Amino acid sequence: MSQEQWTAVDSYIADLFLGHDAALEAALTSSAAAGLPAISVSPTQGKLLHLLARLQGARKILEIGTLGGYSTIWLARALPADGHLISLELDPKHAEVARANLDRAGVKNAEILLGRAADSLQQLVLEKRGPFDLIFIDADKQGYSDYLQWSLKLSRRGTLIIADNVVRNGGVADPANTDANVQGIRRFNEVLAAEKRVTSTAIQTVGSKGYDGLAFILVTAD
Ligand code: SAH
Ligand code: DHB
Ligand code: MG
Repeated sequence: MSQEQWTAVDSYIADLFLGHDAALEAALTSSAAAGLPAISVSPTQGKLLHLLARLQGARKILEIGTLGGYSTIWLARALPADGHLISLELDPKHAEVARANLDRAGVKNAEILLGRAADSLQQLVLEKRGPFDLIFIDADKQGYSDYLQWSLKLSRRGTLIIADNVVRNGGVADPANTDANVQGIRRFNEVLAAEKRVTSTAIQTVGSKGYDGLAFILVTAD
């Protein structure tokens, strides 16, 4: 199985089930034009996030790692009219591109908090902005285990936490892997597996964004 084949099948699925969406396509085009890296979730993964947010009946969503707002748009569109999404982003340029993409997509109920995610998360806890119904962790991989702890403080029983990039081209299965991102994810996976307040799993994915994986975490106790 090759990347070419994974991409072809992702296109086949996206054409069948997702159709064309001007706002989402413009978000990717303008992100690329502004020089942002092409590391947003794939269209089929975006739709999965959207479906899970709807299944969850989410009214409050937290995203850690905005980039150009591609996953943000998918998630925000799952919210009811009085719902709210907060997305955390370190890079001012990413936040600016994302704001324009969200506005173009007609997303009115999403707020981007600029700064280090760890600082914004502490602020959200202090301001009692939780609990969130769904939290999507997708920022710097070395911060993931901290982000899990903050996410738990911003959760209730029944909160769904989803983490992107937990397989890293298979690198996570090798304890000797020296990549800092892989080590960050291995630390996250170990902390997660030992965490008593959740039940969780991780699923490998292939597609237009290569070989990686998603973790799904249900908060079962406060
Ligand atoms: N969720 C996006 C992709 C996010 S890429 C999507 O699927 O469309 C990861 C993002 O996290 C980048 O924009 C990067 O600037 C941001 N980031 C990296 N370190 C961060 C930190 N410490 N705090 C907040 N954001 C951070
Ligand atoms: C990277 C980050 C992501 O969120 C992603 O989905 C893929 C790659 C990265 O930093 O390399
Ligand atoms: Mg990611």
